[in-house]
Amino acid sequence: MQNPGFQFLRGACGQPEDLQKILTVAPAFDIIIDDASHASYHQQNSFKVLFPSLRPGGLYIIEDLHWQSPFFEESLPYVPKTWQFLTDYFLNDKYCENQLLSCEFMGEAKKQIHSFAYFRDFTGQITSPKLIVIRKGGTPIWQVRDRNPTKNVGISVTLDAQPANGEVFPVATP
Ligand SMILES: C[S@@+](CC[C@H](N)C(=O)[O-])C[C@H]1O[C@@H](n2cnc3c(N)ncnc32)[C@H](O)[C@@H]1O
Repeated sequence: MQNPGFQFLRGACGQPEDLQKILTVAPAFDIIIDDASHASYHQQNSFKVLFPSLRPGGLYIIEDLHWQSPFFEESLPYVPKTWQFLTDYFLNDKYCENQLLSCEFMGEAKKQIHSFAYFRDFTGQITSPKLIVIRKGGTPIWQVRDRNPTKNVGISVTLDAQPANGEVFPVATP
């Protein structure tokens, strides 16, 4: 695929140097969607390296949190399940020991987060969260543009809208 607004990079999300490579090409992001191996260690390694590069008002989304390949979970260094770790931290104020995401890192992240939302399976067959959406505090770049019609090149979205079975929890007021 060739497009001036698109660049394809291939890397393994268990490799910090591959994730760092992304940051050299695009130092900041409006949205990050992790839909890769779904392994807990990979999800959290990506979050550790990429979350700081999310712009104000940006969204960090992690998909398919309800299923992890037993192969990866058993062969990679142990970390808690991502959905459990993040919901415990952001909703229950409980930090669970984690060799990737330190208490200090999570404390810094929490200061920057506007809201944390999780969504279950729409069919109701899976009870644990399937998708997590974390929004950074601050005004997203597309809303800044919306306020100035001469520079309005983005689309307007209502970030606080939520599907019926999603739950959104404000974490901090920016
Ligand atoms: C569930 S598919 C999703 C693909 C794409 N997001 C989509 O919706 O079509 C998972 C993708 O993650 C990639 N993947 C698997 N392990 C990975 C890893 N360790 N690091 C990065 N990507 C990985 C796979 O090659 C595959 O393309």
